[in-house]
Amino acid sequence: MSSQGKNFVIFGATGKQGSAAVQWLTKSGTDNIIYAITRDPSSAKAQSLATLPHVQVIQGDSSDPEKAFAQVNGTVDGVFFAPVGFDAKDQIKEGKQMIDLAGKSGVGYLVFSSTDFSGHREDVTGIEAIEAKKVIEDYLISSFVKYTILRPVGFLENLFFPGYADAIPHFWPRQLIKSGIASSDIGRAVSEVLLNPAYFEGKIIGLSGYEGSPQDWMHVWEKVTGEDLRKREKKMNSEMSEEKMKMLKFIMFNENDARVERTRAFFPWVMDLQTFLEDAKARKPM
Ligand SMILES: NC(=O)c1ccc[n+]([C@@H]2O[C@H](COP(=O)([O-])OP(=O)(O)OC[C@H]3O[C@@H](n4cnc5c(N)ncnc54)[C@H](OP(=O)(O)O)[C@@H]3O)[C@@H](O)[C@H]2O)c1
Repeated sequence: MSSQGKNFVIFGATGKQGSAAVQWLTKSGTDNIIYAITRDPSSAKAQSLATLPHVQVIQGDSSDPEKAFAQVNGTVDGVFFAPVGFDAKDQIKEGKQMIDLAGKSGVGYLVFSSTDFSGHREDVTGIEAIEAKKVIEDYLISSFVKYTILRPVGFLENLFFPGYADAIPHFWPRQLIKSGIASSDIGRAVSEVLLNPAYFEGKIIGLSGYEGSPQDWMHVWEKVTGEDLRKREKKMNSEMSEEKMKMLKFIMFNENDARVERTRAFFPWVMDLQTFLEDAKARKPM
């Protein structure tokens, strides 16, 4: 089933999740228009989105959804947003504002990308970015807006950030199963939800494409790249802010709630680690 002639507004469109959502939506139906919101339409990423069929790049950001919606020609049928920045108060303010405006202006559907809570949805983690998402989720659930909440685990792309892959053999607890999801798969899920809102309405879906022990992760990494992660330097980024370090430790020492099997019940195509790494290698040799 696919929708036709709809207007979709994607916030954070040049980002990891947003750009993937835009790209998957362009493959949907010829009459759909995808409004890609960016603070800077002249950036290389925005310009690249503008070359895609049925995409209109619009200047704006999630702090002013009204301005973004005003530029849509007709009704807003579907919206995607995920909190950005590290200020929890701003995230909550923007999230609530988005939901209020969606309700007031008759936006058809909201897809909110939250996060996996690693067993701590019902208690307080002390990590602002995580607590902010709980507040936004609760606000959305108690609103009259039609919604789907996606809860992605850590992005597999994090492996390419300095220090992240090095941490696997040295810092990840051996007994914990850690999960990952490709941000392109999050975008694909967003696209499927926006195109089939009746099916996904009111669902809260954890997104995980791969799960394994640190040994499993190292084994797959070596299989695809030929590199033994244990030989990498043992380091943590000492320049990280206290809040980021707190978040990193939370992620590292808590097992995720999302399970690949449950994710695949909705999205059977999610990539596992090997597929993700092979895909990344084919595009850019590692
Ligand atoms: N990374 C992970 O492993 C992970 C896992 C689960 C959940 N999450 C959550 O995912 C969310 C981030 O999603 P993402 O990685 O897709 O976003 P992103 O790529 O970091 O950013 C999305 C876009 O938002 C705009 N932006 C960035 N900072 C901004 C700011 N301070 N104010 C306004 N606009 C800003 C930028 O676009 P323009 O410059 O073009 O405007 C950027 O391309 C966070 O809430 C994070 O907690 C992350």
